[in-house]
Amino acid sequence: MKTLNNKVVLVTGGGSGIGRETAIEFSAQGAHIVLTDVNAEGMEETGRRIRQAGGTFEQHVADVASRQDMKALAAEVKAQHGALDVLINNAGIGSAGAFLETTLDIWDKVIDINIKGVVHGCHYFLPDMVAAGKGGSVVNLASMAAFVAPRDMSIYATSKFAVLGFSESLRSEMAEYNIHVATICPGVINTAIVKNTVMEGKAGQGELRDKAVAMYKRRNYPPQKVARAVLNAVLKQKSVVPVSPEAWLGYYAKRWAPSLVERFGRLELPFN
Ligand SMILES: NC(=O)c1ccc[n+]([C@@H]2O[C@H](COP(=O)([O-])OP(=O)(O)OC[C@H]3O[C@@H](n4cnc5c(N)ncnc54)[C@H](O)[C@@H]3O)[C@@H](O)[C@H]2O)c1
Repeated sequence: MKTLNNKVVLVTGGGSGIGRETAIEFSAQGAHIVLTDVNAEGMEETGRRIRQAGGTFEQHVADVASRQDMKALAAEVKAQHGALDVLINNAGIGSAGAFLETTLDIWDKVIDINIKGVVHGCHYFLPDMVAAGKGGSVVNLASMAAFVAPRDMSIYATSKFAVLGFSESLRSEMAEYNIHVATICPGVINTAIVKNTVMEGKAGQGELRDKAVAMYKRRNYPPQKVARAVLNAVLKQKSVVPVSPEAWLGYYAKRWAPSLVERFGRLELPFN
């Protein structure tokens, strides 16, 4: 894709953090943005910023975990625009806690949003993109937790390994339709994610959440940089894209020094 001018770009989870900044970044390139989120208020703010900069957008409340919501959303988008040019499966939630203290309900919740949310986006939007025959891009938000899985993050890491694996297979399959699939793997990014993270057992007690929130704030790596990486991945057809120094470090360390990564993963940080 050479330019995003007049392209139709859908961003799930566009009401906060990385999704918001990605929507604004693509809008600045001339794309029409289809914002979706469960948080209508968050989308209002994203929309306000897009409008202020002279861009165009529409917003739809939709839960990526719901087949009904995503099916209805796809039908609406099809009626309005035909096929998408770019699908950005960004919506996701965090989870932390020792495996022995995790509940199956939270496993279901995270899998439904972080894995099936991405699958739903592809299931409902890709057939129209393929049928339109004009190519395009799918961007799936994974994490550095897609290749580095420290203790107390078994649910989140499982979900992000799955997004990476799903995207690898899909990339090969979509190549013949000229639809590129990128997987974005950010490190520690200063968004609302920790505030909204489900923390179970010891990780959810006392000041641990505050400590984790403070750590993300101190790290202060802005979501705008992830948004730029998403844009670059679409324009330059990048496949797996770590974002932030710690994500790159984890990406290479996992290949070159896996036992070191394993030892690091045993450290009780930052949720213990
Ligand atoms: N912030 C980080 O450090 C970081 C690092 C790696 C990967 N990621 C990934 O990036 C993506 C965006 O995270 P963020 O940091 O911007 O978080 P965020 O909490 O700031 O934003 C997530 C957005 O997704 C929406 N959302 C949550 N559940 C939803 C659902 N079921 N249906 C529709 N929308 C839903 C939320 O309302 C919110 O607006 C996630 O997939 C996350 O796992 C974040």
